[in-house]
Amino acid sequence: MIQLHSEHDIQEHCDSSPTPLVLVPTMGALHEGHFSLIRKAKELAGEHGKVVVSIFVNPIQFDRAQDLDSYPQPIAQDLQHCERLGVDYVYTPKSEDFYFEDRSIEVSENSLSSLLCGATRPGHFNGVCMVITKLFNILQPTAAIFGQKDYQQLAIIRRLVRDLSFRTEIIAHPTVREVSGLAMSSRNVGLSSEELSLAPAIREGLLKARELYASGEKSTDRILSKFRLHLDRRAPLSKIDYLECVCADTLQALTEVDRPAVIATAVFFGPVRLIDNIVL
Ligand code: PAF
Repeated sequence: MIQLHSEHDIQEHCDSSPTPLVLVPTMGALHEGHFSLIRKAKELAGEHGKVVVSIFVNPIQFDRAQDLDSYPQPIAQDLQHCERLGVDYVYTPKSEDFYFEDRSIEVSENSLSSLLCGATRPGHFNGVCMVITKLFNILQPTAAIFGQKDYQQLAIIRRLVRDLSFRTEIIAHPTVREVSGLAMSSRNVGLSSEELSLAPAIREGLLKARELYASGEKSTDRILSKFRLHLDRRAPLSKIDYLECVCADTLQALTEVDRPAVIATAVFFGPVRLIDNIVL
């Protein structure tokens, strides 16, 4: 495994690397969810291709300076995981080298990013679009893998690739879950043991809502009520931040499920905000 900091060096390696070159973009603090993305990348790269993992805590996607300052960066541990998983290149740029101080070109997404999580995180998805644009331009990967847990991020990156004609194929990886059904997330460590036992209610509620849809119900009000009812019963102290049934492509809220749709939610357990979704 080779670790590279500079744009020039990683470019040289990627340019001369056999294809497919499969990218797993991360912000580090790697956990089982990332491991599973890396294993998928290895599978896609096959015997001859290469896997590149980027580890970069992208400052411009943080809307609160405090979140950026407290973001965990266990780089030595992350590198060990990458080595163990058979990653070929790890790209670890420094922020001051990655972004020019006087940069004057931005990438902005003007539709999907104001909805769902974007409603309370101004600028976040533009920051994600910018870093992905740069990574795709620097590395020119054949494919890049993103977890389906961040459904909105995935939908926006698909738009980015479509609208800016990137040639990288976007691969969606199913959400990796604990045995309890709780979606794996670096935020789960912030849950108390009681909250940890109640948080799987999110997944259970989503499954119940999907069951109602599968039985023929089309009204999103009634489908979402099923979720709310379950959460109220199982985890009465949790607080729903948002709960919506949206078009799988445009993320616009639906009143009837008359096209491919997704139920997306964010729920607070104490101070910890957990997101999850289910495709209908
Ligand atoms: O999902 C993440 O970890 C980040 O948003 C990403 C895609 C690596 C961009 O910084």
